[in-house]
Amino acid sequence: MQDLLEKIDKSRLPRHVAIIMDGNGRWAKEKGQDRLYGHFHGVESVRNIVEGAGELGIEYLTLYAFSTENWDRPAYEVTGLMELLVETIKKEAADLKKNKIKLHVIGDMNMLPENARKELEEVLEETKDNATMHLIMALSYSSRWELVNAVKQIAFDVQAGKVDPATINQDTLQSYLTTSEFPDPELMIRTSGEYRISNFLLYQLAYAELYFTNVRWPDFRKENLYEAILDFQNRERRFGKTSDQLRPEPVTH
Ligand code: IPE
Ligand code: IPE
Ligand code: MG
Repeated sequence: MQDLLEKIDKSRLPRHVAIIMDGNGRWAKEKGQDRLYGHFHGVESVRNIVEGAGELGIEYLTLYAFSTENWDRPAYEVTGLMELLVETIKKEAADLKKNKIKLHVIGDMNMLPENARKELEEVLEETKDNATMHLIMALSYSSRWELVNAVKQIAFDVQAGKVDPATINQDTLQSYLTTSEFPDPELMIRTSGEYRISNFLLYQLAYAELYFTNVRWPDFRKENLYEAILDFQNRERRFGKTSDQLRPEPVTH
């Protein structure tokens, strides 16, 4: 693990890493256990990765914890996940404060059970002045939900005369997204061997590097994060340009 860490170029870290924490259910099933057992163990990975990202100096870490579509899972799983959420926030609040981590939530918080919302609001308030790292939890989040809301809000503001439709540009749209305060993720990691985005940050991931690993989320640890970052650092991000444009040949006379 130390080897991997030493290979990382600290001057070229992604500022924002986003993770689709997938595979809890399969991890549990493989062990002959209930899916909730997987979610329970997934919390340990969250703790480990938040710590690892903080130690490295990652400024923004977004974790996809529960999607809009996840509400359609069996009631017992949804209830179990919400209980786990409340329990985890209570347990982790002190560490977030101690480590100067600012918590953010993106997603439809109104959908969450009252006690979960209350606990979250408390921690959001208690950590609002923190600055070391931003931990962004995507809860009851989906990109299509976010984009529809943004469009609706822009339409209302146009109607109210606050926005001139002729001036709408990418910055305008960006400012209506739930992520308006954050830079776009440069690296998106999905665990557990699925090669899809599942309605996560569709707009914001436009130029993100995508990294997929077969490791199930409950087994994902700092060293797996380091591997993903090393992989990221070995890629050439071209943003539509050519390789030569990015690394022009030195002029020789
Ligand atoms: C990710 O693990 C956690 C949530 C979506 C809440 P899954 O529960 O999706 O686990 P798999 O993909 O079924 O193994
Ligand atoms: C994506 O995982 C959502 C989260 C990790 C919270 P899912 O397991 O819900 O996605 P699909 O169903 O495999 O696309
Ligand atoms: Mg899944």
